[in-house]
Amino acid sequence: AKENEFINCSYLDFTNEKVRRSFKDAVESIKTTFPQKVPVFIGANKRDNGASLKRICPSNNSIEVAKVVLATTNECEDAVKISYSAFLKWQKVPLERRCLMLENLAQKLQDDRLYLAALQTYEVAKPWADADADVAEAIDFCRYYAKQARIELSPKKQGNMFGEENWLKFNGRGPTVVIAPWNFPLAILCGMSVAALVSGNSIIMKPAEQSSLTAYALYERMVEVGFEQDVVQFLPGIGEDIGPCLVNHPLTSQIAFTGSKDVGHQIVKQAAIVQKNQVQMKRVVCEMGGKNATIIDDDADLDEAVLAIIKSAFGYAGQKCSACSLVFVAQKIYETFALRLVEACKSLDMGPAHHPQYTLGPVVDIDAQKRLLKEIENVKSYAQTLYIGSAKEGGCYVPPAIFTVDNTKNNLMKKEFFGPILAIMKVRDFKEGLQMVNESEFALTGAVFSRSPSNIELAKNNFSVGNLYINQKSTGALVARQPFGGFKMSGMGIKAGGPGYLLQFVDLKCITENT
Ligand code: NAD
Ligand code: ALA
Repeated sequence: AKENEFINCSYLDFTNEKVRRSFKDAVESIKTTFPQKVPVFIGANKRDNGASLKRICPSNNSIEVAKVVLATTNECEDAVKISYSAFLKWQKVPLERRCLMLENLAQKLQDDRLYLAALQTYEVAKPWADADADVAEAIDFCRYYAKQARIELSPKKQGNMFGEENWLKFNGRGPTVVIAPWNFPLAILCGMSVAALVSGNSIIMKPAEQSSLTAYALYERMVEVGFEQDVVQFLPGIGEDIGPCLVNHPLTSQIAFTGSKDVGHQIVKQAAIVQKNQVQMKRVVCEMGGKNATIIDDDADLDEAVLAIIKSAFGYAGQKCSACSLVFVAQKIYETFALRLVEACKSLDMGPAHHPQYTLGPVVDIDAQKRLLKEIENVKSYAQTLYIGSAKEGGCYVPPAIFTVDNTKNNLMKKEFFGPILAIMKVRDFKEGLQMVNESEFALTGAVFSRSPSNIELAKNNFSVGNLYINQKSTGALVARQPFGGFKMSGMGIKAGGPGYLLQFVDLKCITENT
Protein backbone atom coordinates (compact mmCIF):
# COMPACT_ATOMS: atom_id res chain seq x y z
CA ALA A 1 0.00 0.00 0.00
CA LYS A 2 1.12 3.56 -0.74
CA GLU A 3 2.10 5.70 2.21
CA ASN A 4 -0.95 7.45 3.64
CA GLU A 5 -3.34 5.19 1.74
CA PHE A 6 -6.27 4.17 3.91
CA ILE A 7 -6.82 0.42 4.21
CA ASN A 8 -10.27 -0.78 5.24
CA CYS A 9 -10.58 -3.37 7.96
CA SER A 10 -11.08 -6.68 6.17
CA TYR A 11 -14.24 -8.69 6.71
CA LEU A 12 -14.22 -12.10 8.35
CA ASP A 13 -13.89 -14.90 5.84
CA PHE A 14 -16.93 -17.06 6.53
CA THR A 15 -15.86 -19.57 3.89
CA ASN A 16 -13.14 -20.56 6.35
CA GLU A 17 -14.47 -23.24 8.69
CA LYS A 18 -12.34 -22.07 11.62
CA VAL A 19 -13.79 -18.57 11.32
CA ARG A 20 -17.31 -19.95 11.14
CA ARG A 21 -16.70 -22.04 14.21
CA SER A 22 -15.35 -19.16 16.27
CA PHE A 23 -18.26 -16.93 15.26
CA LYS A 24 -20.69 -19.68 16.20
CA ASP A 25 -18.96 -20.05 19.59
CA ALA A 26 -19.30 -16.28 20.15
CA VAL A 27 -22.99 -16.41 19.25
CA GLU A 28 -23.62 -19.37 21.55
CA SER A 29 -21.67 -18.01 24.49
CA ILE A 30 -23.26 -14.55 24.30
CA LYS A 31 -26.71 -16.08 24.59
CA THR A 32 -25.87 -17.25 28.09
CA THR A 33 -25.30 -13.62 29.19
CA PHE A 34 -28.84 -12.45 28.41
CA PRO A 35 -30.61 -10.43 29.63
CA GLN A 36 -27.80 -7.93 30.13
CA LYS A 37 -28.34 -4.69 32.00
CA VAL A 38 -27.73 -1.41 30.17
CA PRO A 39 -27.20 1.41 32.69
CA VAL A 40 -27.22 5.18 32.37
CA PHE A 41 -23.84 6.88 32.91
CA ILE A 42 -23.76 10.56 33.91
CA GLY A 43 -20.05 11.21 34.26
CA ALA A 44 -18.77 8.36 36.42
CA ASN A 45 -22.16 8.07 38.08
CA LYS A 46 -23.81 4.79 37.08
CA ARG A 47 -27.53 4.23 37.49
CA ASP A 48 -28.81 0.74 36.85
CA ASN A 49 -32.24 0.83 38.46
CA GLY A 50 -35.51 2.65 37.84
CA ALA A 51 -37.69 2.68 34.75
CA SER A 52 -36.37 0.36 32.07
CA LEU A 53 -37.14 -1.08 28.69
CA LYS A 54 -37.09 -4.80 27.86
CA ARG A 55 -35.25 -5.48 24.63
CA ILE A 56 -36.62 -8.62 23.03
CA CYS A 57 -34.71 -10.53 20.34
CA PRO A 58 -36.49 -9.86 17.03
CA SER A 59 -35.67 -13.35 15.73
CA ASN A 60 -37.06 -15.15 18.74
CA ASN A 61 -39.45 -13.25 20.95
CA SER A 62 -38.88 -15.59 23.89
CA ILE A 63 -35.31 -14.29 24.36
CA GLU A 64 -34.93 -11.14 26.42
CA VAL A 65 -31.63 -9.61 25.32
CA ALA A 66 -31.38 -6.58 27.58
CA LYS A 67 -32.95 -4.44 30.23
CA VAL A 68 -32.27 -0.86 29.22
CA VAL A 69 -32.41 1.72 31.99
CA LEU A 70 -34.03 4.90 30.73
CA ALA A 71 -32.39 8.28 31.29
CA THR A 72 -34.59 11.06 32.63
CA THR A 73 -34.73 14.72 31.63
CA ASN A 74 -33.10 15.67 34.98
CA GLU A 75 -30.20 13.40 34.11
CA CYS A 76 -29.92 15.10 30.71
CA GLU A 77 -29.61 18.43 32.49
CA ASP A 78 -26.80 17.05 34.69
CA ALA A 79 -25.08 15.38 31.75
CA VAL A 80 -24.99 18.57 29.69
CA LYS A 81 -23.49 20.58 32.57
CA ILE A 82 -20.80 17.93 33.12
CA SER A 83 -20.19 17.78 29.39
CA TYR A 84 -19.66 21.52 29.20
CA SER A 85 -16.98 21.52 31.94
CA ALA A 86 -15.36 18.46 30.38
CA PHE A 87 -15.27 20.16 26.98
CA LEU A 88 -13.27 23.08 28.38
CA LYS A 89 -10.51 20.61 29.33
CA TRP A 90 -10.84 18.14 26.45
CA GLN A 91 -10.46 20.80 23.76
CA LYS A 92 -6.95 21.50 25.13
CA VAL A 93 -5.83 17.88 24.82
CA PRO A 94 -3.30 17.79 21.95
CA LEU A 95 -4.68 16.66 18.60
CA GLU A 96 -2.13 13.84 18.31
CA ARG A 97 -3.23 12.41 21.66
CA ARG A 98 -6.88 12.47 20.58
CA CYS A 99 -5.95 10.71 17.32
CA LEU A 100 -4.05 8.00 19.20
CA MET A 101 -7.07 7.41 21.41
CA LEU A 102 -9.21 6.75 18.33
CA GLU A 103 -6.60 4.32 17.05
CA ASN A 104 -6.55 2.53 20.41
CA LEU A 105 -10.33 2.29 20.29
CA ALA A 106 -10.11 0.81 16.78
CA GLN A 107 -7.72 -1.84 18.06
CA LYS A 108 -9.99 -2.64 21.01
CA LEU A 109 -13.01 -3.02 18.71
CA GLN A 110 -10.97 -5.23 16.43
CA ASP A 111 -9.85 -7.42 19.35
CA ASP A 112 -13.49 -7.82 20.41
CA ARG A 113 -15.03 -8.03 16.95
CA LEU A 114 -16.61 -11.46 17.43
CA TYR A 115 -18.37 -10.41 20.63
CA LEU A 116 -19.55 -7.10 19.12
CA ALA A 117 -20.92 -8.76 15.99
CA ALA A 118 -22.50 -11.68 17.85
CA LEU A 119 -24.32 -9.20 20.08
CA GLN A 120 -25.92 -7.57 17.04
CA THR A 121 -27.18 -10.87 15.67
CA TYR A 122 -29.43 -11.09 18.73
CA GLU A 123 -30.13 -7.50 19.64
CA VAL A 124 -31.10 -6.16 16.21
CA ALA A 125 -31.18 -9.43 14.21
CA LYS A 126 -28.27 -8.56 11.93
CA PRO A 127 -27.15 -11.58 9.92
CA TRP A 128 -23.56 -12.72 10.56
CA ALA A 129 -21.89 -11.05 7.58
CA ASP A 130 -23.79 -7.77 8.03
CA ALA A 131 -22.98 -7.68 11.74
CA ASP A 132 -19.31 -8.28 10.98
CA ALA A 133 -19.40 -5.51 8.34
CA ASP A 134 -20.89 -3.13 10.89
CA VAL A 135 -18.05 -3.76 13.33
CA ALA A 136 -15.48 -3.38 10.53
CA GLU A 137 -17.08 -0.05 9.59
CA ALA A 138 -16.84 1.20 13.18
CA ILE A 139 -13.14 0.27 13.20
CA ASP A 140 -12.67 2.07 9.88
CA PHE A 141 -14.35 5.22 11.18
CA CYS A 142 -11.92 5.37 14.14
CA ARG A 143 -8.84 4.91 11.97
CA TYR A 144 -10.04 7.10 9.13
CA TYR A 145 -11.05 10.05 11.30
CA ALA A 146 -7.75 9.82 13.20
CA LYS A 147 -5.92 9.98 9.87
CA GLN A 148 -8.07 12.82 8.55
CA ALA A 149 -7.83 14.78 11.80
CA ARG A 150 -4.05 14.88 11.46
CA ILE A 151 -4.45 16.22 7.92
CA GLU A 152 -7.49 18.47 8.25
CA LEU A 153 -7.36 19.75 11.82
CA SER A 154 -3.67 20.58 12.21
CA PRO A 155 -3.04 24.34 12.28
CA LYS A 156 -2.43 25.70 8.78
CA LYS A 157 -0.26 28.62 7.81
CA GLN A 158 -2.06 31.03 5.49
CA GLY A 159 -0.74 33.54 2.98
CA ASN A 160 2.83 34.68 2.54
CA MET A 161 3.23 38.30 3.54
CA PHE A 162 6.48 39.74 4.86
CA GLY A 163 6.02 41.15 8.39
CA GLU A 164 2.83 39.20 9.10
CA GLU A 165 2.08 35.63 10.06
CA ASN A 166 -1.35 34.04 9.68
CA TRP A 167 -2.43 30.75 11.20
CA LEU A 168 -5.73 28.95 10.87
CA LYS A 169 -6.64 26.86 13.89
CA PHE A 170 -9.38 24.28 14.34
CA ASN A 171 -11.09 24.13 17.74
CA GLY A 172 -13.82 21.97 19.21
CA ARG A 173 -17.19 23.70 19.55
CA GLY A 174 -18.66 22.25 22.75
CA PRO A 175 -20.89 19.47 24.04
CA THR A 176 -22.13 17.38 21.13
CA VAL A 177 -25.26 15.28 21.36
CA VAL A 178 -24.93 12.13 19.28
CA ILE A 179 -28.33 10.67 18.38
CA ALA A 180 -28.03 7.39 16.51
CA PRO A 181 -30.26 4.86 14.70
CA TRP A 182 -30.38 1.14 15.41
CA ASN A 183 -29.74 -0.24 11.94
CA PHE A 184 -25.94 0.19 12.03
CA PRO A 185 -25.83 -0.11 15.80
CA LEU A 186 -22.08 0.14 16.30
CA ALA A 187 -20.79 1.84 13.15
CA ILE A 188 -22.98 4.93 12.97
CA LEU A 189 -22.93 5.69 16.70
CA CYS A 190 -19.18 5.14 16.75
CA GLY A 191 -18.54 7.19 13.60
CA MET A 192 -20.45 10.27 14.76
CA SER A 193 -19.02 9.98 18.30
CA VAL A 194 -15.35 9.65 17.39
CA ALA A 195 -15.62 12.39 14.75
CA ALA A 196 -16.90 14.80 17.40
CA LEU A 197 -14.29 13.66 19.95
CA VAL A 198 -11.23 13.86 17.72
CA SER A 199 -12.33 17.35 16.74
CA GLY A 200 -12.15 18.45 20.39
CA ASN A 201 -15.75 18.11 21.56
CA SER A 202 -17.17 16.31 24.55
CA ILE A 203 -20.09 14.01 23.71
CA ILE A 204 -23.36 12.71 25.08
CA MET A 205 -24.31 9.47 23.37
CA LYS A 206 -28.03 8.85 22.93
CA PRO A 207 -28.32 5.44 21.29
CA ALA A 208 -31.48 4.11 19.66
CA GLU A 209 -33.83 2.27 22.01
CA GLN A 210 -33.52 -0.92 19.95
CA SER A 211 -29.72 -1.11 20.01
CA SER A 212 -28.71 0.24 23.42
CA LEU A 213 -26.82 -2.92 24.42
CA THR A 214 -24.48 -2.76 21.42
CA ALA A 215 -24.10 0.97 22.11
CA TYR A 216 -23.20 0.20 25.72
CA ALA A 217 -20.55 -2.25 24.55
CA LEU A 218 -19.03 0.64 22.58
CA TYR A 219 -19.22 3.02 25.55
CA GLU A 220 -17.49 0.47 27.81
CA ARG A 221 -14.66 0.11 25.33
CA MET A 222 -14.28 3.88 24.98
CA VAL A 223 -13.85 4.15 28.73
CA GLU A 224 -11.48 1.19 28.72
CA VAL A 225 -9.12 2.85 26.23
CA GLY A 226 -9.00 6.00 28.34
CA PHE A 227 -11.81 8.38 27.40
CA GLU A 228 -12.83 10.14 30.60
CA GLN A 229 -16.40 9.56 31.66
CA ASP A 230 -17.09 13.30 31.75
CA VAL A 231 -15.96 13.60 28.14
CA VAL A 232 -18.06 10.64 26.98
CA GLN A 233 -21.44 10.15 28.64
CA PHE A 234 -24.02 7.49 27.95
CA LEU A 235 -27.74 8.22 28.04
CA PRO A 236 -29.93 5.42 26.74
CA GLY A 237 -33.55 6.50 26.71
CA ILE A 238 -36.68 7.23 24.75
CA GLY A 239 -35.90 9.68 21.96
CA GLU A 240 -39.15 11.61 22.19
CA ASP A 241 -38.70 12.04 25.97
CA ILE A 242 -35.06 13.02 26.36
CA GLY A 243 -34.10 14.07 22.82
CA PRO A 244 -35.69 17.55 22.94
CA CYS A 245 -34.09 18.36 26.29
CA LEU A 246 -30.60 17.55 24.91
CA VAL A 247 -31.22 19.29 21.60
CA ASN A 248 -32.66 22.47 23.16
CA HIS A 249 -30.22 22.85 26.00
CA PRO A 250 -28.41 26.23 25.90
CA LEU A 251 -25.05 24.54 26.59
CA THR A 252 -25.13 21.97 23.77
CA SER A 253 -23.30 23.20 20.67
CA GLN A 254 -24.24 20.65 18.07
CA ILE A 255 -26.26 17.60 17.34
CA ALA A 256 -24.96 14.75 15.24
CA PHE A 257 -28.08 12.89 14.15
CA THR A 258 -28.71 9.94 11.88
CA GLY A 259 -32.24 8.59 11.63
CA SER A 260 -35.62 9.16 10.06
CA LYS A 261 -36.74 12.20 8.10
CA ASP A 262 -39.43 13.27 10.55
CA VAL A 263 -37.15 13.20 13.59
CA GLY A 264 -34.37 14.90 11.60
CA HIS A 265 -36.69 17.75 10.63
CA GLN A 266 -37.83 18.15 14.21
CA ILE A 267 -34.25 18.33 15.49
CA VAL A 268 -33.24 20.90 12.86
CA LYS A 269 -36.26 23.05 13.79
CA GLN A 270 -35.62 22.83 17.54
CA ALA A 271 -31.91 23.53 17.21
CA ALA A 272 -32.68 26.70 15.24
CA ILE A 273 -34.52 28.28 18.19
CA VAL A 274 -32.00 30.26 20.22
CA GLN A 275 -32.45 29.63 23.96
CA LYS A 276 -31.78 32.05 26.77
CA ASN A 277 -28.03 32.08 27.62
CA GLN A 278 -27.23 29.85 24.67
CA VAL A 279 -23.48 29.56 24.16
CA GLN A 280 -23.13 28.59 20.50
CA MET A 281 -25.29 28.75 17.40
CA LYS A 282 -26.14 25.07 17.13
CA ARG A 283 -25.05 23.05 14.17
CA VAL A 284 -26.93 19.94 13.15
CA VAL A 285 -25.30 17.15 11.21
CA CYS A 286 -28.42 15.46 9.92
CA GLU A 287 -28.44 12.21 7.91
CA MET A 288 -31.88 10.83 7.11
CA GLY A 289 -33.70 8.23 5.06
CA GLY A 290 -34.10 7.40 1.40
CA LYS A 291 -36.34 5.83 -1.21
CA ASN A 292 -33.54 4.37 -3.23
CA ALA A 293 -34.04 3.34 -6.83
CA THR A 294 -32.25 1.14 -9.34
CA ILE A 295 -32.69 1.48 -13.10
CA ILE A 296 -32.37 -1.63 -15.25
CA ASP A 297 -31.52 -0.80 -18.85
CA ASP A 298 -32.66 -3.02 -21.72
CA ASP A 299 -29.08 -4.25 -22.28
CA ALA A 300 -28.30 -4.90 -18.60
CA ASP A 301 -26.58 -8.07 -17.41
CA LEU A 302 -29.60 -9.61 -15.71
CA ASP A 303 -27.57 -12.19 -13.76
CA GLU A 304 -25.82 -9.36 -11.98
CA ALA A 305 -28.84 -7.08 -11.76
CA VAL A 306 -31.15 -9.68 -10.17
CA LEU A 307 -28.54 -10.67 -7.59
CA ALA A 308 -27.83 -7.03 -6.76
CA ILE A 309 -31.52 -6.22 -6.29
CA ILE A 310 -32.06 -9.25 -4.06
CA LYS A 311 -29.10 -8.23 -1.90
CA SER A 312 -29.88 -4.52 -1.75
CA ALA A 313 -33.65 -4.83 -1.30
CA PHE A 314 -33.83 -7.83 1.04
CA GLY A 315 -30.40 -7.81 2.74
CA TYR A 316 -30.99 -7.10 6.44
CA ALA A 317 -34.71 -7.30 5.59
CA GLY A 318 -34.55 -4.01 3.67
CA GLN A 319 -33.54 -2.08 6.78
CA LYS A 320 -30.46 -0.30 5.44
CA CYS A 321 -30.79 3.39 4.66
CA SER A 322 -29.07 2.50 1.40
CA ALA A 323 -31.51 -0.34 0.56
CA CYS A 324 -33.09 -0.44 -2.86
CA SER A 325 -36.87 -0.14 -2.68
CA LEU A 326 -37.75 0.87 -6.26
CA VAL A 327 -36.73 -0.68 -9.55
CA PHE A 328 -37.43 0.96 -12.88
CA VAL A 329 -37.11 -1.60 -15.68
CA ALA A 330 -36.91 -0.90 -19.40
CA GLN A 331 -39.99 -2.40 -21.08
CA LYS A 332 -37.99 -4.59 -23.48
CA ILE A 333 -36.69 -6.78 -20.66
CA TYR A 334 -39.36 -6.12 -18.05
CA GLU A 335 -41.11 -9.53 -18.24
CA THR A 336 -37.88 -11.52 -18.11
CA PHE A 337 -36.49 -9.43 -15.28
CA ALA A 338 -39.68 -9.61 -13.19
CA LEU A 339 -39.88 -13.37 -13.61
CA ARG A 340 -36.26 -13.90 -12.63
CA LEU A 341 -36.52 -11.51 -9.69
CA VAL A 342 -39.53 -13.33 -8.28
CA GLU A 343 -37.81 -16.71 -8.67
CA ALA A 344 -34.71 -15.38 -6.91
CA CYS A 345 -36.86 -13.94 -4.13
CA LYS A 346 -38.51 -17.34 -3.60
CA SER A 347 -35.08 -18.74 -2.76
CA LEU A 348 -34.73 -16.49 0.30
CA ASP A 349 -34.91 -18.62 3.38
CA MET A 350 -36.41 -16.91 6.41
CA GLY A 351 -35.23 -17.52 9.95
CA PRO A 352 -33.31 -16.24 13.00
CA ALA A 353 -30.43 -13.93 12.17
CA HIS A 354 -28.12 -15.66 14.64
CA HIS A 355 -28.35 -18.85 12.56
CA PRO A 356 -26.18 -18.41 9.46
CA GLN A 357 -28.18 -20.69 7.17
CA TYR A 358 -30.99 -18.15 6.79
CA THR A 359 -30.83 -15.41 4.18
CA LEU A 360 -33.73 -13.30 5.45
CA GLY A 361 -34.18 -12.36 9.08
CA PRO A 362 -36.94 -10.54 10.93
CA VAL A 363 -37.44 -6.77 11.17
CA VAL A 364 -36.23 -4.90 14.22
CA ASP A 365 -39.26 -5.05 16.54
CA ILE A 366 -42.95 -5.73 16.88
CA ASP A 367 -43.87 -2.12 16.07
CA ALA A 368 -41.96 -2.30 12.79
CA GLN A 369 -43.52 -5.70 12.04
CA LYS A 370 -47.08 -4.41 12.60
CA ARG A 371 -46.43 -1.23 10.60
CA LEU A 372 -44.97 -3.16 7.66
CA LEU A 373 -47.72 -5.78 7.58
CA LYS A 374 -50.23 -2.92 7.46
CA GLU A 375 -48.29 -1.24 4.64
CA ILE A 376 -48.37 -4.51 2.66
CA GLU A 377 -52.16 -4.69 3.07
CA ASN A 378 -52.52 -1.05 1.94
CA VAL A 379 -50.28 -1.50 -1.07
CA LYS A 380 -52.31 -4.53 -2.19
CA SER A 381 -55.28 -2.19 -2.70
CA TYR A 382 -53.59 -0.15 -5.44
CA ALA A 383 -50.66 -2.19 -6.78
CA GLN A 384 -50.42 -5.57 -8.44
CA THR A 385 -48.82 -8.22 -6.26
CA LEU A 386 -45.95 -10.02 -8.00
CA TYR A 387 -44.87 -12.03 -5.00
CA ILE A 388 -45.48 -12.22 -1.27
CA GLY A 389 -43.54 -14.88 0.61
CA SER A 390 -44.62 -16.45 3.84
CA ALA A 391 -43.50 -15.25 7.23
CA LYS A 392 -42.13 -17.35 10.07
CA GLU A 393 -43.76 -17.44 13.51
CA GLY A 394 -42.18 -16.63 16.84
CA GLY A 395 -40.42 -13.41 15.90
CA CYS A 396 -40.87 -10.11 14.09
CA TYR A 397 -41.02 -11.68 10.65
CA VAL A 398 -42.43 -9.87 7.63
CA PRO A 399 -42.79 -11.71 4.32
CA PRO A 400 -40.72 -10.38 1.42
CA ALA A 401 -43.06 -8.61 -0.98
CA ILE A 402 -42.71 -7.43 -4.57
CA PHE A 403 -45.34 -5.21 -6.16
CA THR A 404 -45.68 -3.56 -9.50
CA VAL A 405 -47.35 -0.22 -10.24
CA ASP A 406 -47.76 2.05 -13.26
CA ASN A 407 -47.36 5.46 -11.63
CA THR A 408 -45.26 7.07 -8.94
CA LYS A 409 -48.03 8.89 -7.05
CA ASN A 410 -48.50 6.48 -4.16
CA ASN A 411 -46.81 5.54 -0.91
CA LEU A 412 -45.19 2.46 -2.38
CA MET A 413 -43.18 4.72 -4.67
CA LYS A 414 -42.70 7.68 -2.34
CA LYS A 415 -42.52 6.68 1.31
CA GLU A 416 -39.56 5.00 3.00
CA PHE A 417 -41.04 1.72 4.32
CA PHE A 418 -37.76 0.39 5.75
CA GLY A 419 -38.59 -3.27 5.33
CA PRO A 420 -38.53 -6.11 2.77
CA ILE A 421 -40.99 -4.47 0.37
CA LEU A 422 -39.96 -3.76 -3.20
CA ALA A 423 -41.74 -1.90 -6.01
CA ILE A 424 -40.95 -2.48 -9.64
CA MET A 425 -42.23 -0.35 -12.51
CA LYS A 426 -42.02 -0.74 -16.25
CA VAL A 427 -40.59 2.29 -18.07
CA ARG A 428 -40.26 3.03 -21.77
CA ASP A 429 -36.49 3.24 -21.60
CA PHE A 430 -33.51 4.21 -19.45
CA LYS A 431 -34.18 7.94 -19.91
CA GLU A 432 -37.72 7.64 -18.59
CA GLY A 433 -36.39 5.68 -15.60
CA LEU A 434 -33.97 8.51 -14.90
CA GLN A 435 -36.80 11.04 -14.97
CA MET A 436 -38.80 8.93 -12.51
CA VAL A 437 -35.99 8.47 -9.97
CA ASN A 438 -35.46 12.19 -9.80
CA GLU A 439 -39.10 12.77 -8.82
CA SER A 440 -38.25 11.46 -5.34
CA GLU A 441 -38.02 13.87 -2.43
CA PHE A 442 -35.00 11.82 -1.26
CA ALA A 443 -31.49 11.61 -2.71
CA LEU A 444 -29.51 9.02 -0.80
CA THR A 445 -28.38 6.06 -2.92
CA GLY A 446 -29.16 4.76 -6.39
CA ALA A 447 -27.89 2.24 -8.90
CA VAL A 448 -28.04 1.58 -12.62
CA PHE A 449 -27.44 -1.60 -14.58
CA SER A 450 -26.55 -0.86 -18.18
CA ARG A 451 -23.97 -1.69 -20.85
CA SER A 452 -24.57 1.54 -22.72
CA PRO A 453 -21.74 4.07 -22.23
CA SER A 454 -24.05 6.95 -23.16
CA ASN A 455 -26.74 5.92 -20.67
CA ILE A 456 -24.12 5.38 -17.97
CA GLU A 457 -22.80 8.87 -18.69
CA LEU A 458 -26.38 10.21 -18.52
CA ALA A 459 -26.82 8.63 -15.09
CA LYS A 460 -23.49 10.00 -13.84
CA ASN A 461 -24.61 13.50 -14.78
CA ASN A 462 -28.31 13.39 -13.97
CA PHE A 463 -29.15 10.72 -11.34
CA SER A 464 -29.75 12.92 -8.33
CA VAL A 465 -28.34 10.95 -5.38
CA GLY A 466 -25.53 11.16 -2.87
CA ASN A 467 -24.14 7.71 -3.68
CA LEU A 468 -24.56 6.34 -7.20
CA TYR A 469 -23.48 2.83 -8.14
CA ILE A 470 -22.95 1.71 -11.75
CA ASN A 471 -23.48 -2.00 -12.34
CA GLN A 472 -23.23 -2.56 -8.60
CA LYS A 473 -25.73 -2.82 -5.74
CA SER A 474 -26.61 0.33 -3.82
CA THR A 475 -25.67 -0.92 -0.34
CA GLY A 476 -22.37 -1.44 1.44
CA ALA A 477 -20.50 1.86 1.13
CA LEU A 478 -17.02 1.60 2.62
CA VAL A 479 -15.35 4.29 4.71
CA ALA A 480 -12.89 6.37 2.65
CA ARG A 481 -13.73 4.51 -0.59
CA GLN A 482 -17.36 5.60 -0.82
CA PRO A 483 -17.95 8.60 1.47
CA PHE A 484 -21.61 8.23 2.39
CA GLY A 485 -24.62 10.55 2.66
CA GLY A 486 -27.40 12.20 0.73
CA PHE A 487 -29.04 15.50 -0.01
CA LYS A 488 -32.62 16.75 -0.69
CA MET A 489 -34.67 15.21 2.14
CA SER A 490 -31.98 12.59 2.81
CA GLY A 491 -29.56 14.83 4.62
CA MET A 492 -27.56 17.97 4.80
CA GLY A 493 -24.16 17.05 6.14
CA ILE A 494 -20.77 16.45 4.57
CA LYS A 495 -20.45 12.76 3.77
CA ALA A 496 -19.54 10.42 6.61
CA GLY A 497 -16.27 8.57 6.07
CA GLY A 498 -14.99 11.19 3.64
CA PRO A 499 -12.91 14.35 3.51
CA GLY A 500 -14.41 17.42 5.15
CA TYR A 501 -16.65 15.50 7.55
CA LEU A 502 -14.65 16.58 10.59
CA LEU A 503 -14.84 20.25 9.65
CA GLN A 504 -18.50 20.16 10.68
CA PHE A 505 -17.39 19.68 14.29
CA VAL A 506 -14.94 22.58 14.64
CA ASP A 507 -14.80 26.34 14.86
CA LEU A 508 -12.07 27.94 12.77
CA LYS A 509 -9.95 30.68 14.24
CA CYS A 510 -7.56 32.78 12.15
CA ILE A 511 -4.70 34.34 14.10
CA THR A 512 -2.78 37.17 12.48
CA GLU A 513 0.45 38.32 14.07
CA ASN A 514 2.32 41.44 13.08
CA THR A 515 5.93 40.20 13.15
P1 NAD B 1 -35.50 7.31 14.25
O1 NAD B 1 -35.51 8.65 13.62
O2 NAD B 1 -36.77 6.73 14.71
O3 NAD B 1 -34.53 7.32 15.54
C1 NAD B 1 -33.19 7.76 15.44
C2 NAD B 1 -32.75 8.28 16.80
O4 NAD B 1 -33.50 9.45 17.11
C3 NAD B 1 -33.01 7.31 17.94
O5 NAD B 1 -31.93 7.34 18.82
C4 NAD B 1 -34.25 7.86 18.60
O6 NAD B 1 -34.37 7.55 19.95
C5 NAD B 1 -34.02 9.35 18.42
N1 NAD B 1 -35.22 10.19 18.52
C6 NAD B 1 -36.51 9.84 18.27
N2 NAD B 1 -37.31 10.90 18.47
C7 NAD B 1 -36.52 11.93 18.84
C8 NAD B 1 -36.76 13.29 19.16
N3 NAD B 1 -37.98 13.80 19.15
N4 NAD B 1 -35.71 14.06 19.48
C9 NAD B 1 -34.45 13.57 19.47
N5 NAD B 1 -34.17 12.29 19.19
C10 NAD B 1 -35.19 11.48 18.86
O7 NAD B 1 -34.74 6.34 13.21
P2 NAD B 1 -34.42 4.79 13.37
O8 NAD B 1 -35.68 4.02 13.23
O9 NAD B 1 -33.56 4.55 14.54
O10 NAD B 1 -33.50 4.54 12.08
C11 NAD B 1 -34.00 4.33 10.82
C12 NAD B 1 -33.94 5.58 9.98
O11 NAD B 1 -32.60 6.08 9.92
C13 NAD B 1 -34.34 5.34 8.53
O12 NAD B 1 -35.08 6.43 8.08
C14 NAD B 1 -32.98 5.27 7.82
O13 NAD B 1 -33.05 5.56 6.44
C15 NAD B 1 -32.22 6.31 8.57
N6 NAD B 1 -30.78 6.12 8.42
C16 NAD B 1 -30.08 7.01 7.65
C17 NAD B 1 -28.71 6.82 7.46
C18 NAD B 1 -27.91 7.80 6.62
O14 NAD B 1 -26.68 7.75 6.71
N7 NAD B 1 -28.52 8.68 5.86
C19 NAD B 1 -28.06 5.75 8.05
C20 NAD B 1 -28.81 4.86 8.85
C21 NAD B 1 -30.17 5.07 9.02
N1 ALA C 1 -22.57 2.08 4.82
C1 ALA C 1 -23.94 1.70 4.75
C2 ALA C 1 -24.36 1.28 3.39
O1 ALA C 1 -23.90 1.85 2.43
C3 ALA C 1 -24.83 2.81 5.26
O2 ALA C 1 -25.16 0.40 3.25
